[in-house]
Amino acid sequence: MLFLITIVFLILSISPSITSSVPYIPTDYILLNCGASSNTTSYDGRNWVADDDHLYANTSSFSSTASYQDPSVTQVPYMTARFFRGEFTYKFPLSPGPKFLRLYFYPNQYPGLDITSSFFSVAANNYTLLSNFSAYLVSATSPPQAFIVKEFVITVGKEQMMDVTFAPSPNSFAFINGIEVVSMPANLYTGQTYGSLRLIDTNYFFELENSTALDTAYRLNVGGRDVLDVHDSGMFRTWNQDIDYIFGAASGVTYYDQSEATIKYTEATPVYTAPEAVYKSYRSMGPNPYINFNYYLTWLFTVDSGFYYLVRLHFCENDLQKVNQRVFDIFINNHAAEIAMDVIAVSEGNGIPIYIDYVVWVAQSENELWVALHPNAESKPESYDAVLNGLEIFKLNNSDGSLAAPNPRPETKPMLKQKHSKEGRFLKTGKVVIGATLSSIVSILLILSLVFWQRKLFLCRTESINRRKVSPNQCRHFSVADILTATNNFDDALIIGRGGFGNVYRGHIPGIQYEVAIKRLNSKSHQGENEFWAEIEMLSQLRYINLVSLIGYCNEKQEMILVYDYMVNGTLRDHLYKNDNIPLKWKQRLQICIGAARGLEYLHSGAVQRIIHRDVKTTNILLDETWVAKVSDFGLSKMGPVLMENVPITTKVKGTFGYMDPEYFRRLHLTEKSDVYSFGVVLFEVLCARPAVDTSLEDEEIGLAGWALKCVENETIEQIIDPYLHGKIAAKCLKVFVEIAKSCLHDVGVERPKMRDVVGMLEFSLELQEAAGAKQAVEAGDTINHARTMDELV
Ligand SMILES: *[C@@H]1O[C@H](CO)[C@@H](O)[C@H](O)[C@H]1NC(C)=O
Ligand SMILES: *[C@@H]1O[C@H](CO)[C@@H](O)[C@H](O)[C@H]1NC(C)=O
Ligand SMILES: *[C@@H]1O[C@H](CO)[C@@H](O)[C@H](O)[C@H]1NC(C)=O
Ligand SMILES: *[C@@H]1O[C@H](CO)[C@@H](O)[C@H](O)[C@H]1NC(C)=O
Ligand SMILES: *[C@@H]1O[C@H](CO)[C@@H](O)[C@H](O)[C@H]1NC(C)=O
Ligand SMILES: *[C@@H]1O[C@H](CO)[C@@H](O)[C@H](O)[C@H]1NC(C)=O
Ligand SMILES: *[C@@H]1O[C@H](CO)[C@@H](O)[C@H](O)[C@H]1NC(C)=O
Repeated sequence: MLFLITIVFLILSISPSITSSVPYIPTDYILLNCGASSNTTSYDGRNWVADDDHLYANTSSFSSTASYQDPSVTQVPYMTARFFRGEFTYKFPLSPGPKFLRLYFYPNQYPGLDITSSFFSVAANNYTLLSNFSAYLVSATSPPQAFIVKEFVITVGKEQMMDVTFAPSPNSFAFINGIEVVSMPANLYTGQTYGSLRLIDTNYFFELENSTALDTAYRLNVGGRDVLDVHDSGMFRTWNQDIDYIFGAASGVTYYDQSEATIKYTEATPVYTAPEAVYKSYRSMGPNPYINFNYYLTWLFTVDSGFYYLVRLHFCENDLQKVNQRVFDIFINNHAAEIAMDVIAVSEGNGIPIYIDYVVWVAQSENELWVALHPNAESKPESYDAVLNGLEIFKLNNSDGSLAAPNPRPETKPMLKQKHSKEGRFLKTGKVVIGATLSSIVSILLILSLVFWQRKLFLCRTESINRRKVSPNQCRHFSVADILTATNNFDDALIIGRGGFGNVYRGHIPGIQYEVAIKRLNSKSHQGENEFWAEIEMLSQLRYINLVSLIGYCNEKQEMILVYDYMVNGTLRDHLYKNDNIPLKWKQRLQICIGAARGLEYLHSGAVQRIIHRDVKTTNILLDETWVAKVSDFGLSKMGPVLMENVPITTKVKGTFGYMDPEYFRRLHLTEKSDVYSFGVVLFEVLCARPAVDTSLEDEEIGLAGWALKCVENETIEQIIDPYLHGKIAAKCLKVFVEIAKSCLHDVGVERPKMRDVVGMLEFSLELQEAAGAKQAVEAGDTINHARTMDELV
């Protein structure tokens, strides 16, 4: 948390906490000036109590006063500190409910102490807040500042105290300058009702119970100025200006403190939610629709990896009056969080504040969180613009009850990191340009290098863990009775799939809100009990947005049953040919291919164990209600050796005719590249909308793979693509797409790309398609009117 205070040694006569105009008056409000020997008042008029009395002090601690006062710190609470050589606990008797706990640190010079050698942990009510924490290292980075304020939200139960424990690392010492405890309204952040928080990049909702502890990462008054703690709505939160986090040169325009406006708080957004200053100021994209259409108004935040984050966006339309005047899309970490957001439509009027919460998973490999806004062309709004008033980001405790992250390493200069990602973002916002200027033939090498370059720099994809309320490896056990109820005693009318392994039914299991797919393994199936357990164990660890998740199993009375998420929109094949469904648009098909490719990439990457699917085909790619592709049926999967990549596994021939890797067929050697081959067939199937094998056709046309390659060779591929797609695929996009499919079908496995490369190249071809659409819209002049045309095209 960064806030700069110019020191004004002014003692105000009234404490703001008791000013009657403050919207919220905390029931508990404790300010502790650690290490001080007498009660003191800070420059803003708040009274800080000395901790040097029997309630708090302990002989294992000692106090000291800093020998240097940095211009950015105030005397109270920063100049005095309490030091601990052993474990030490402050106990705060409090009313039940959620509390802010703020810890103030000033890592500077104290006589006889080397602050750089201070490492310690802090815990509060069984939550680990900080672990082997170095206030010195944290203060020296991102950007350097003299002091640190850490803010947490912790719910105190009935008849509980708040215990804050400082524990020095071995041969070290702990210290603290100030502690603040403030109560807050019960449902302000945690304890929210089920279903209210969307988990980004999934169809699931996230429950934020009062047992969740939060660590405030950022709190911004977007488009406005810093709002100091004493000007908050009563909880002493600090709201910072957002300019430091705006990504790229295009920062939009800001409007602040339109003082004549009145903010009409509601029951849904009570007066304490955020101070008026937040709702009165905002940042929008600017007046030029052409410019707005070509960029994303973007904020970039550095965060700790391996945590869920709560992202709260605050809106209040102060300017416009009507619905459909300003409509925009919201992206969080490159995933659509909200499509066609219209603040007036949601808030039901001008000057009425609202906020929306999302939860996003930041994977181990990521340490950035992006929020981006872009005009929504489809709804043909009056102005091509987007707006944001406020933003809060909180880290949520992990399953160990910990919020702690490693210290920044002294050698990683955060400024460097930021510059790096700024370049990446420039590329991203400039992707239209890249797409449009690349001349007709792009060699596969150039594509590859571009893809890698782009991926490395900016593709901040959430490797989202598709968790419901179960821990990742937890898998529910269902009784046979549950299964019989769900399938109406294995009613044939509920069968949605048949295979060598047995039948698949759809149904509702008592106590589960969503529909499930129930795979009943054939009793004749050679799969034994041990293999069944092995499969459950493996499948329950595989949680990824582009894989069908295993929810549970039943293993009673000789039944071996697996329960999966039910995919409303069926198989990819159902939407390509021999059906009555509306044909999928080209862009949709590309997105589905990218999703399926990511699912396979996840299996191959060995996130859990290296897995070769062995039966990639369009009937094993399922679609959920938002058309997200989910790879299914790992029934034929065999785990590969964990460490050796591309080492063939000798195995019996399995798989489906028409998708079979010829090399696998010849040598009975199975590698990841066998899946790549089958995926190449899928790509041509998607392009041509015909089966992999069609015996009703002429001999040389029966097998799609061979036929398509011949057509590519002959430059007649255009003649066999799905007639519905004629004139709808941008030439450059088609070129790249065909090139990818062709490379997947290479006769020799090692010559085929890896799934990771396939994902990158498909993403690139999607960008080319989008760029062509955008270019056409722009050339046609009126961006808004042609937006629809563009969307139809892509
Ligand atoms: C500081 O203030 C508190 C509460 O106002 C009081 O209980 C305490 O005795 C005071 N301590 C000192 C050292 O004056
Ligand atoms: C005070 O310190 C002693 C050791 O010196 C320790 O046993 C005790 O638990 C501490 N009390 C508190 C309240 O931290
Ligand atoms: C901490 O955990 C212990 C053991 O689970 C429990 O007895 C205790 O009540 C917890 N304390 C708080 C403050 O939650
Ligand atoms: C604490 O962190 C420091 C520096 O990051 C490291 O050298 C030390 O080994 C760590 N100690 C523990 C107990 O993890
Ligand atoms: C936390 O939530 C539980 C379940 O909703 C409720 O019973 C409990 O009273 C809440 N605790 C507090 C301190 O609000
Ligand atoms: C696919 O999903 C969409 C959106 O949920 C739905 O409207 C449509 O009916 C579904 N199609 C099929 C074939 O289930
Ligand atoms: C290749 O082109 C020749 C000449 O245009 C044509 O006769 C032949 O049918 C084509 N073959 C394929 C597989 O398209």
